[in-house]
Amino acid sequence: MRVTDPPSHFRRRFFLGLLAACLFLALASGAAARGRCGSHPWCDTHLSPDARANLLLGALTEDEKIGLLGGDDFNGGVSGGPHAHTGTSDGVPRVDLPTTYYSDGPLGPRQGQATALPAPMGLAATFRPTLAFSAGSVVANEAKFKGNDVVFAPTVNIMRNPLGGRSFEAYGEDPFVDAQMAVQWIRGAQSQGVIADVKHFAANNQEGADPTGHGGAPGAPLGAGPFGSRYIVNDVVDERTLREIYLPHFEAAVKQAHVGTVMCAYNQVNGAFSCENRHLLQQILEHEWGFKGYVIADYGAAHNTINNLNNGLDFEAWPPWSYRPQEIQLALLSGQASQATLDGHVRRILRTLFAYGFFDRASYRDDDAQIPKRAHARAVRRIEESGITLLRNRHLLPLRRRRLKSIAVIGSPATKFVTGGGSGNVSPFSYASPLAAIRRAAGRKVNVSYDDGADPATAAAHAKASSVAIVFAADYETEGADRQCLTLECPNAYGDQDSLIQSVAAANPRTVVVLETGAPVLTPWRNRVGALLEAWYPGEQGGPALARVLFGKVDPGGRLPVTFPQNEGDTPTAGDQAKYPGIGVNVYYKEGVLVGYRWYDARRIKPAYPFGFGLSYTRFRYSHLRVRANTVTFTVRNVGRRTGRTVAELYVSIPSPGFGVVEPPRQLKGFAAVKLRRGRSTRVRLRLDARSLSYWDVAHSRWAIPRGCFLISVGRSSRDLPLHAVVARGGARCGDRD
Ligand code: BGC
Repeated sequence: MRVTDPPSHFRRRFFLGLLAACLFLALASGAAARGRCGSHPWCDTHLSPDARANLLLGALTEDEKIGLLGGDDFNGGVSGGPHAHTGTSDGVPRVDLPTTYYSDGPLGPRQGQATALPAPMGLAATFRPTLAFSAGSVVANEAKFKGNDVVFAPTVNIMRNPLGGRSFEAYGEDPFVDAQMAVQWIRGAQSQGVIADVKHFAANNQEGADPTGHGGAPGAPLGAGPFGSRYIVNDVVDERTLREIYLPHFEAAVKQAHVGTVMCAYNQVNGAFSCENRHLLQQILEHEWGFKGYVIADYGAAHNTINNLNNGLDFEAWPPWSYRPQEIQLALLSGQASQATLDGHVRRILRTLFAYGFFDRASYRDDDAQIPKRAHARAVRRIEESGITLLRNRHLLPLRRRRLKSIAVIGSPATKFVTGGGSGNVSPFSYASPLAAIRRAAGRKVNVSYDDGADPATAAAHAKASSVAIVFAADYETEGADRQCLTLECPNAYGDQDSLIQSVAAANPRTVVVLETGAPVLTPWRNRVGALLEAWYPGEQGGPALARVLFGKVDPGGRLPVTFPQNEGDTPTAGDQAKYPGIGVNVYYKEGVLVGYRWYDARRIKPAYPFGFGLSYTRFRYSHLRVRANTVTFTVRNVGRRTGRTVAELYVSIPSPGFGVVEPPRQLKGFAAVKLRRGRSTRVRLRLDARSLSYWDVAHSRWAIPRGCFLISVGRSSRDLPLHAVVARGGARCGDRD
């Protein structure tokens, strides 16, 4: 059949029809957007968010304002059904102020099923902030398509103590890495039209120790152990340590990423609960950093209506306890809180909603069908591949299919979706186990057997009869309870994994251990195994990502964002109850700024694997360091046989500004993940700003650069720094290395 052009009058009608349809759609969506705000004076998008917030505020009754300070919908909230939002705040229908919906969290929305991301600890291990942007985009996109306006993430608390139950939820022990990741995560999330909520402000570093042994067991109810419970603990921490270690990532989230909301934490800081802590919320967050968004209380973290109102808490999500209407009314009537204070809180909430476009768009629909699941799966696989960290390799990896007859996969985590508990727990849309992925990658000619490892002797026999053994071992971390020790048996969720690894490695030295842990664990068998990979909690694409790393399709991109100690007693908070879990409610941050590798370096303790460490399948040479003004440049060359990744790390040793002011031996102040083909080199350029050379000057309450000689070191990890230069500041003379 010959296809002829349609007659011109038909074409004209067709195009006019199309135009009319487009116009209708445009008007309809415009109407939807306008309809959401209505046709009130505050709906004029030419006005500033402040002006719009003031206009709407002026139209609200006192009861309506009070209602906006507390969440609603007890059953739709966190206690609701499997697809419930984590929180809701009914708006004010009278003035067309819509309901706001809230959802957890840092590994994906906790609302039905979702794409389960690798744990943030694994994301931090990529040392690639662009991947944090991607992670934030994926999580927020799904939160949006589940009908939410705000996502309770990222978690950015520093890992002060590797026992911490929420270590997996955040970015490790270094504030610089933390800040870089948090900023991009928030930018990614907010690029989706969802408001991020950086948490938990501040120094929320322990859940509580539970000597009964039940804490932290999978499925155990949330609720901190009795000692050092997160709900009551009082962190006694000096100002300099706060500023240098526990706050920089929050500061970056506010100043660089313009995060819309901040979640104040359960714990007390220096005698005041975080959600009523004037120093934190008003002096630092609002006045010093210029935060214009609103502060949300963690669930059950607001205790005292008057203090919450007067010291900077804007919204209590669920269930409003401190911000029950009658409590607020009482505070106003008794004159213990003023109208201006009430207005201030409402204004901040409204201003944020205006500033982030909440009124000027249609409401988000809760419908999983909108989620681009395959694209998200690809994105999270890429993140996981880049976060898997190779800690040891005795010429065993990557595996070469042609040289293998059989692989014994051992340990039940090889067949399970391994992750942590609490509000970071996500039910994945789909999941391919490492065992299935290894079978696929090995191909038909390699026999892949599986043993759950329940009996170490049987597993060892299996390993002996195979060309290679791959043992999977995991831990379980959760919000609500700290781990009681750092071995793989704490809590005993997967049996005696240390004995299993010892037996298998004794039977076959060609044993690869794959750890799926949220944070550091003890590795007493490390020198007896052929290879060791840390996959963290790898998310729903962990299986395929691991298989690609094991078989060398990709180079393991990860580097440690935390120190792996040799012994539990080596950690910064070990051996002193005052430091952890505390005496009474008080936990004394006696280690000061010596957190993480800063502690190990200062005390000259050799870790099992240092901060920043991770191997590649190729080798890199670092050379030609040059420091000019604020710019540090150096050359990185791939001198191995294949394409690979290195993370170039820059550390600064700040001279002590005065007697008694302890400076860590070195601090990370720059990094760059570099991918190079074999034989190729590149010149890496990193910037050192004034803050990189500064300490917190307590006497003057400001950042200051001390006079003296600063050592700049560059290399592959905190303990492998081949390049050095010295720079002088404040007129110091630093000899010929200057
Ligand atoms: C957690 C928060 C979380 C909230 C809502 C709290 O227990 O500390 O991180 O966002 O629950 O699920």
